[in-house]
Amino acid sequence: MNPPIRFLHELSRALAASSLYGPQHPARYKAINTCYEALRALQAEDEEPSFSFLGRDVVYGYDAIRELQDWEWSDRFAAIGVQRIEVMGEVSADEFAIFIEDVHARLGATANGGSGFSVPGTPRPQGTDDGNLSRQTAIRFGAIGVQGVSSGGGSVEPALPDMPYSLEEESEAIRYIHSQVAGEQTVPLVEAEAVVRSLSGALHSDGQMLIPLLKLKSFDQYTTTHSINVSVLSMALAEALGHNPRDVRILGVAGLLHDLGKVRVPPEILSKPGSLSPEERELLERHPSDGARIILNSDKRLTLPAAVAFEHHIMINGGGYPRRHFARDCHYASTVVHVCDVYDALHTDRPYRAAWPSAKALHYIERRADREFDPAVANAFIALMRKNERGLDAKGVANN
Ligand SMILES: [Fe+2]
Ligand SMILES: [Fe+2]
Repeated sequence: MNPPIRFLHELSRALAASSLYGPQHPARYKAINTCYEALRALQAEDEEPSFSFLGRDVVYGYDAIRELQDWEWSDRFAAIGVQRIEVMGEVSADEFAIFIEDVHARLGATANGGSGFSVPGTPRPQGTDDGNLSRQTAIRFGAIGVQGVSSGGGSVEPALPDMPYSLEEESEAIRYIHSQVAGEQTVPLVEAEAVVRSLSGALHSDGQMLIPLLKLKSFDQYTTTHSINVSVLSMALAEALGHNPRDVRILGVAGLLHDLGKVRVPPEILSKPGSLSPEERELLERHPSDGARIILNSDKRLTLPAAVAFEHHIMINGGGYPRRHFARDCHYASTVVHVCDVYDALHTDRPYRAAWPSAKALHYIERRADREFDPAVANAFIALMRKNERGLDAKGVANN
């Protein structure tokens, strides 16, 4: 059994033993100790392992563990708000016992000592459990995203500072995907799907759907921030439109990759503060067909993300670009990504204009439904965003 799987199995056993036996029972102590040894074995090859529990999927780092699909503990963890476990370096045996105690307490076990397990001689640290974050040990667990903003040049910051999102790992993965596309001209599909799985979890980490949009911190991070936001918005809209989870994720991938062709557009054009010359505009307007070509050359199965990349600037009345010789309807998925793309672009600071407030961007979409946007899709999007804003207001999170 490989180390990540062994660790998760031992974790489930340690938690089961914590429910079955009293705090000082040797079987409980032994199960926790065996799990701790499994963690140390895992850390010998991966110092900072992380796991996400997303419904039926268990994700280790960026990879779904196929052997654990439908693992009953994945659902159980997600149900108690433990959608993610991150180990931040070396963990002492005492810290590990605290981690087991905290997760066990969440499982609601009260029989045989309940959450009263403690390590003899170990003072209990001050609780910081606010329902989202674990106590301060080297193991963190809770909602997707945890917290913090990445260090170094590539940071994006969450638009919702009061919510437990940073989407830092997802941003990092997007930067990797873009660098692979720029260098190798291929899309690393496994990473793209892992980002989408993780974003899908972030969308529901609160038990209700609240859309975690990122705010742009520096102009050179636009593509990263925009890709994540369009992916999240596309999934939220697809869900609101009643699509099944598989189609929702495919739309998430399409949203994530829609602007991939921009890796071929010179950065000075992308960040030009003034209006573009005809030659510059022509270069910019190549990104849909370049993106579709890159996606299809990478993986022939990605026909839908390729169609969306090609069509996401085409309006319902046939306007927009790329210009086609014969008018035809766009794929439905393209109309979904199109509205999300325009909203995020308007709602974000650009070198040539400040971000529009959400209400103004929604009003713009409302006015252009029927000409630019599919009216049913546009109306569903407007309703979704207004509902989301009411949800944010109720939580006291600023959003304008
Ligand atoms: Fe675009
Ligand atoms: Fe875009």
